[in-house]
Amino acid sequence: MRTLNHLPDRVTLVEVGPRDGLQNEKQAVAAADKVELVHRLQAAGLTEIEVTSFVSPKWVPQMADNTEVMAGITRQPGVRYSVLTPNLKGWEAAALTRPDEIVVFGAASEAFSQRNINCSITESIERFAPVVAAARAAGIKVRGAISCAVGCPYEGEIAPERVGLVARLMAGIGVQHVGVADTIGVGTPRQVQAALEAALAHYPLAEVSGHFHDTYGMALANVLASLELGIARFDTSVSGLGGCPYAKGATGNVATEDVVWLLHGMGISTGIDLDALIDAGQFIRQALGQPNGSRVARALLAKKA
Ligand code: HMG
Ligand code: MG
Repeated sequence: MRTLNHLPDRVTLVEVGPRDGLQNEKQAVAAADKVELVHRLQAAGLTEIEVTSFVSPKWVPQMADNTEVMAGITRQPGVRYSVLTPNLKGWEAAALTRPDEIVVFGAASEAFSQRNINCSITESIERFAPVVAAARAAGIKVRGAISCAVGCPYEGEIAPERVGLVARLMAGIGVQHVGVADTIGVGTPRQVQAALEAALAHYPLAEVSGHFHDTYGMALANVLASLELGIARFDTSVSGLGGCPYAKGATGNVATEDVVWLLHGMGISTGIDLDALIDAGQFIRQALGQPNGSRVARALLAKKA
C-alpha cells in the first residue's frame, strides 16, 4: 500500500446533495428549492455540483424535474455542473441542458447493477459506451461511478479485483475519471484503500475520487485513509442528505460540513466557507422539515445559539 507521509495540500469536494441527497427524499421537493440549494452551495465556494439525474421518472420520481432544475440555475463561472446519465435517452435529454460533466454509473456487484440500472455489468458498459462517445465528442467530461466498491446489500463483501475490472472496462470506453463508491457505507479504511488501489491500476491519482456513504459512521475515517493514498477529490453531501433508493437502509453521503472541518483542521484547503455551507444545509433541511445530519453543523449551530 503506497501511503504518503505528506497529505494533499488542497482537496476538491464534489457536492452531491442536490442529486444523491434529494433523490432519496420521500417527500416532494420543489424545483425552486433545489435551484436555491445549488445557488447557496456555489456561493459557499463549491466548484463542483452534481445537480440532478436523467433517469427514468418511474424509477426515481424525485429527479423528474431535472430539466427544470438545470434551466433554473444561474451559472457561476468556475463552477462545474454535472448530471447522471445511465443511457442514451438520459444523455439526449441531459445534453439539451448543457451540463459540464456527465456521470455514468456502474457497479462492482452484479446484483446491484441489476437492481439499480436493470442490466448486468457487461450490458451497462455496452450502454455507457455510446453515451461516453457522444459526450466526449461534445467536449463534455465523463465521470464514472463504481457502486458497491467494498460491499453490496445483496452480495455482501466485494473483492477489490471486481472494482479493478469495472475501472478497466470504464477506462476502455473512454470514461475519464472514476469515483469509488461505498454505496452502503460498510467499508473500513484498509478495505477502502484496497478498492481505491484497484481503480488506481487503471487511472491516474487525479482521476480517482472517493464517494462514501456514512451508514456505519466510517466515512470520515475512509476520507482520511484515501488522503493517505494521495486521493484529493471526494463526493460529499451538504448536511449529510441522502441515501440510495436501491440500497435499503443506506444513509446519506458523508456531510460536506464534516469533511470541510476535517480538512481545514488538518491545514488542507478546500476554498469552501464553512459558515455559508452550514447556512445552505440549514436551508434545505428546513425546507424538508428535518434536523441537520452534519455533526459539525449541529455543533457550530448549538454554539451560536
Ligand atoms: P429500463 O427499464 O431497463 O430502461 O431502465 P428501458 O430502456 O427498457 O426503458 C423503459 C422505460 O423507461 C421506457 O419508458 C423508457 O423511455 C424509459 P416507457 O416506454 O415504459 O414509458 N427510460 C427513461 N426515461 C427517462 N430517462 C431515461 C430513461 N431510460 C429509459 N434515461 C434505467 C433503465 C437506467 C433508465 C432505470 O433502471 C433507471 O432509471 N434507474 C434509476 C437508477 C438511479 O437513478 N439510481 C440512483 C442513482 S445511482 C446512485 O445513487 C449511486 C451513486 O451515488 C454512487 C453510489 O453511492 O454507489 C452514483
Ligand atoms: Mg451515492
